[in-house]
Amino acid sequence: MPARLRCIAESCGAQFAIEEVLYNCPKCGGLIEAAYDAPTQSAAELKKIFRQRRMSNAPVDQSGVWRYRELFPFLDDLSSVVTLREGNTPLLDAPLAASYAGLDRLVFKHQGYNPTGSFKDNGMTCGVAQARRLKMKRVACVSTGNTSASMAAYAAAGGLEPLIFLPHGNISFGKLSQAIEYGARTLQVGANFDEILALVRVLAERLGIYLLNSMNPFRIEGQKSIVIEMMDQRDWHAPDWIVLPGGNLGNTSAFGKALRELHAYGFLDKMPRIGVIQAEGSAPFYEFSQRRGLGDFVPVKKPETLATAIRIGDPVSWPKAWREVTASNGVVEQVTEQEIADAKAQIGRCGIGCEPASAATLAGLRKLTAGGTVSRDADVVAVLTGHVLKDTDYIYRYHTGKLETPAGVPIRSTHGNQPVVVPNDPDRIAALLAE
Ligand code: F0G
Repeated sequence: MPARLRCIAESCGAQFAIEEVLYNCPKCGGLIEAAYDAPTQSAAELKKIFRQRRMSNAPVDQSGVWRYRELFPFLDDLSSVVTLREGNTPLLDAPLAASYAGLDRLVFKHQGYNPTGSFKDNGMTCGVAQARRLKMKRVACVSTGNTSASMAAYAAAGGLEPLIFLPHGNISFGKLSQAIEYGARTLQVGANFDEILALVRVLAERLGIYLLNSMNPFRIEGQKSIVIEMMDQRDWHAPDWIVLPGGNLGNTSAFGKALRELHAYGFLDKMPRIGVIQAEGSAPFYEFSQRRGLGDFVPVKKPETLATAIRIGDPVSWPKAWREVTASNGVVEQVTEQEIADAKAQIGRCGIGCEPASAATLAGLRKLTAGGTVSRDADVVAVLTGHVLKDTDYIYRYHTGKLETPAGVPIRSTHGNQPVVVPNDPDRIAALLAE
């Protein structure tokens, strides 16, 4: 059977043509995913092909997403693909962060090394390829910042018109700057992410604009490559845990789908467990997991966190994400603003650095090892989702003792590193450095 779209609701499972523009099932309202038959080549053959492509100079082979295209075969041909050489992000050993987390060893997969500085590029290259295949002219998204930066870049590179909606005053200047530099029409709305998403869905339908938020199933297909590449880099040895921050929960959905498919196709010896970390003021998925998925999913009406990337109270993809947490015997944890800030500074001290939302992973791991959920000798990969320069204001405030929670409570500068103003005088500077 050719590639198709499918409703994820078990009671429905309706299927649709891959060229249909669908974000929810027209029959039951459930979320939509891409579905395929198993690849015709064996896992061993594909592993070899993926390796050989690293020697190739063809743009699609150099892409750390399209290199793995047999595992998301939704296009008939690659003519609509726009690549900025996304993916290809490193696995970095971080001994200092490991000891902070109470682990013997910790490896970060740093998605901040992407062309626009976040993991969104892995998904956006696929979303934009589908938009171009469908002959769309305009693409839109609401964003806490990174999706908009990524969509703007890929749309610009692919000759599409990007239209961006942002929660006014609640995204970092770095991300906003990227979107405007890449030429996106940028609308700042006085509402939060969840409210604007509802607005954008109405507008997209009315104006025939293609939506590139993460309920777009092709974004999820692209983000699967984060896990696929991680496994390739580990010679297909699965870790015990993969830990990531959770906001709208698209990435959790993508990771779980990738793991299930890789396992079913015979690429992996075992299923890693997924650990999702949320910020305390924006943690509806954590609350839901505490109730073991019983009862209704209760959105947080006024989500708050300085990790603005994950300031989301009503995550669209929660049903997909819950399926993946359950399937992987995973866990959901929440962390405070102070814990995120301190963990972030530790990641900085490793010479690695990341944006605030990404640091929730290390803060969460520290809690999970302390509570005995993750054992000291576990094999753990934590995914850093965004680049350290995405939110420089936060960094400066933390290190100079000026960071406050959204409620105005001061955050301790536990690992602060204040810049010092000195006179233009070698003797006094030498004296200072001798202290
Ligand atoms: N980390 C960063 C840096 C993000 O930008 C996001 C999401 C997440 C984690 C959470 O990922 O939504 O898949 O659970 N940012 C979105 C945006 C919402 O608009 O850029 P998720």
